[in-house]
Amino acid sequence: MAIKYVERYSPVDRVLHWITAIAFALLVMTGLGLYSKALLPYMNLLGGPETAIEIHKYTGVIFFITALIMLFMHLKDTLDFDSDDAVWISRLGGYLSRDSEEPPMGKYNTGQKIYGIFAIVATIALGVTGWVLWHPDDYSIATLQWSLALHSLFFVIIGCFTLVHIYLGTIGNPGTLAGILYGEVTEAWAKKHAPKWLAKK
Ligand code: HEM
Repeated sequence: MAIKYVERYSPVDRVLHWITAIAFALLVMTGLGLYSKALLPYMNLLGGPETAIEIHKYTGVIFFITALIMLFMHLKDTLDFDSDDAVWISRLGGYLSRDSEEPPMGKYNTGQKIYGIFAIVATIALGVTGWVLWHPDDYSIATLQWSLALHSLFFVIIGCFTLVHIYLGTIGNPGTLAGILYGEVTEAWAKKHAPKWLAKK
């Protein structure tokens, strides 16, 4: 029997996602060396600390713009909460037990929606604090210290979320990556992971 496919992401969605992902990886590599000398080799891969920081600033601008456009394009589905989300949370998405089933979800599951909302907050916070740190002469020492602390805090949280996102989008849930690579998922994938979204297609 022929496999049926359903469209999940437009070419614009996919290009924005991968620019955001590549920019994120570059930001991590060019930023990590600032936290510990042990992480300096990452910066050295990109031309040493001074060049790495220059790359960090301009890649930050690209990340800020593409991530926000992507996240706002998905906003309607990201904010689409109903009573099934409460069930999803009470079962922790069904991830922690073999017997617990995932309740029916729309385009995104509850975890993805929480990730999407937090990603908007974090992108804005990282952008604003990054801008302050980029122009140290224009701000007080206290503002600079707060900005550095918040920049680090938001990076650590969004970094952890993104590691989970990468795991769940690849080996954690086979068939998911195809959507963001080729634009389509199989109907069987949609029935399992996003039945309410499939029903509206
Ligand atoms: C190697 C890195 C990455 C991989 C393999 C990856 C994988 C994926 C996959 C498979 C999807 C589709 C999920 C679905 O259709 O249900 C997706 C969607 C998405 N990605 Fe990524 N991603 C990566 C990096 C990032 C980064 C760095 C961000 C932003 C900080 C990001 C933000 C999103 C968002 C907001 C969505 C839509 C909703 C969601 O699935 O949470 N991704 N990604």
